[in-house]
Amino acid sequence: MIVGREDGVGDEESRSFMEMVEEVMTMIGVSTASDFFPAVARVVDWGGVRKRMRVVDIKKEEMLQRLINEKRRRRKEKGKTDQKSMLEALLDLQEEEPENYSDQIIKAMIVALFFGGTDTSSVTIEWAMSLLLNHPGVLHKARTEIDSLVGKDHRLIQEQDLPNLPYLQAIINETLRLYPAAPLLAPHRSHEECVVGGSYRVPNGTILLVNAWAIHRDPELWTEPEVFRPERFVEGGEGTVGGGIKMLPFGMGRRRCPGEVMAMRLVGLALGMMIQCFEWERDGEGLIDMEETGGLILHKADPLRVMYRPRQSMVDLLSQIETF
Ligand code: HEM
Repeated sequence: MIVGREDGVGDEESRSFMEMVEEVMTMIGVSTASDFFPAVARVVDWGGVRKRMRVVDIKKEEMLQRLINEKRRRRKEKGKTDQKSMLEALLDLQEEEPENYSDQIIKAMIVALFFGGTDTSSVTIEWAMSLLLNHPGVLHKARTEIDSLVGKDHRLIQEQDLPNLPYLQAIINETLRLYPAAPLLAPHRSHEECVVGGSYRVPNGTILLVNAWAIHRDPELWTEPEVFRPERFVEGGEGTVGGGIKMLPFGMGRRRCPGEVMAMRLVGLALGMMIQCFEWERDGEGLIDMEETGGLILHKADPLRVMYRPRQSMVDLLSQIETF
């Protein structure tokens, strides 16, 4: 979507891009002694994090500049297309206002979307599938909802169906409550001193991490907070009524995630299709291990492994899909 490429899914370039996203996300979340002794950190590179960052940064710059150059060359050779990717729209703006849309700015925008939008969405899908496999009753209920809206065999679930699938939406919300992809949101720094809640003085330059994970599991805010129960988010449930903010997987205020709507659609569509098209089983006797890793993005400690096969009723439809 960002660079307008439909080819290359799973090829070496896209794989190495994903590896880079994961590497950066891991390093952003690493807590090192430098965070606590910033003066010493200017001379000592604890854990070699700075060096690793520099290596991955050079790789990222090269990759993005290659994408921009390639797009520019294609537009020169073949002319502009009607259906623009985000990169093409930015290159148009660059022609009109070169001082505001330098290659550097375009690369920064692409990076923000890639880093904000890829890992967060994919871990949410992985957590949701893990929860569903541990709660087959919920999986069954979601499938029944999809079947009764979309039918059993003649078409795939589409984006327009999502508003009419409240239980599927509730599953995603409940997943984001228990496993918010960014458990500490994004670090913010105060640019002037302020007082919060009447008694907490926050000096200028303080780095603030909001523990959304803890708020989402606070027993004063949620009944049986550790239990996976999508019904909380069905109309009238405790997740949909009452004042105050107790659900903030996308942050809040002016820096709230700008990709929220897209994320809910993307996760809804992916999860909905997985439920609609396949039978899923756990890989082994026991429950899926739900242990989490630390870091800025909440990954599963043990990546999900599952057994799946197409649902009998979907085989014909699936076999007609070219890319499948
Ligand atoms: C389930 C998926 C997602 C989750 C849980 C999520 C969560 C978040 C959170 C917690 C923040 C920080 C908010 C704050 O500072 O308080 C954020 C920021 C951001 N997100 Fe998302 N996000 C998701 C998907 C996406 C997608 C799909 C995109 C774009 C394609 C995106 C783009 C961004 C950007 C650009 C920022 C930085 C905004 C800023 O600093 O002003 N996110 N996201």
